[in-house]
Amino acid sequence: MSAAGSLKRLTPSRIRAMKGGAPIVCLTAYTTPMARLLDEHCDLLLVGDSLGMVLYGMESTVSVTLDMMIAHGKAVMRGVTRSCVVVDMPFGSYQESKELAYRNAVRILQETGCDAVKLEGGEEMAETIAFLTARGVPVLGHIGLMPQQVHTAGGYRSVGHSDEEVAKIRRDADAVGNSGAFAVVIEGTVETLAREVSAAIAVPTIGIGASVACDGQILVSDDMLGLFNDFTPRFVKRYDELGKRVGAAAAAYADDVRSRAFPTEEHTFKRRS
Ligand code: KIV
Repeated sequence: MSAAGSLKRLTPSRIRAMKGGAPIVCLTAYTTPMARLLDEHCDLLLVGDSLGMVLYGMESTVSVTLDMMIAHGKAVMRGVTRSCVVVDMPFGSYQESKELAYRNAVRILQETGCDAVKLEGGEEMAETIAFLTARGVPVLGHIGLMPQQVHTAGGYRSVGHSDEEVAKIRRDADAVGNSGAFAVVIEGTVETLAREVSAAIAVPTIGIGASVACDGQILVSDDMLGLFNDFTPRFVKRYDELGKRVGAAAAAYADDVRSRAFPTEEHTFKRRS
């Protein structure tokens, strides 16, 4: 990315200034070709640690490493000229101390050239977010359903159903919203609470399974494109059925190869005379 190119991209401050305005359009991207396809349509591209499950077939995001995130962050940066690019901090790279979080966030920013990092956590991570932002690291928060806590939460389920959960998410939104984060992802949260929190905090909320009340929306691109033929979570709208189309294309190719219908003359090199 040239200096001129990076200046044209949306910055975390510009995303922050979109609070209460036009909805902020966000998707995940993990590779250069996908980033190139999505970039012009989005305000923010997230190199999410969901790549562990989506690309690597892992059971959860817990096994994703910093090196994986940096490799995919670099790949996405090669394909982007417009969107603000945020790279997820993986499990174990920031929870232990704010100093460790800072060292690893700096590695992500320096080695990928991205604009910001995202980390999961509510009131317990607010001090870390304040430490990072005060030292030049833009941070996107992430509250509500937190996939990196799947083992302690006992699975993936929407939140905000009990009075305790409502009180906790209110405290989390307040703490992260006042920590210096430029925006907050709110995942898998009941509508009334997402609406209340979006109205209460000064920075944009980016919803995933958190209703239309948020300031922006994000989906995992592979879910939205229908690249999976199996389970689709309730909050995902499938805008295409690419999984089925990939299967049909592979079946047509296999038929052609087996019947020798491919390659034809037009795909064949001839000796130049
Ligand atoms: O890892 C990810 O893709 C995410 C989004 C789903 C918000 O955190």
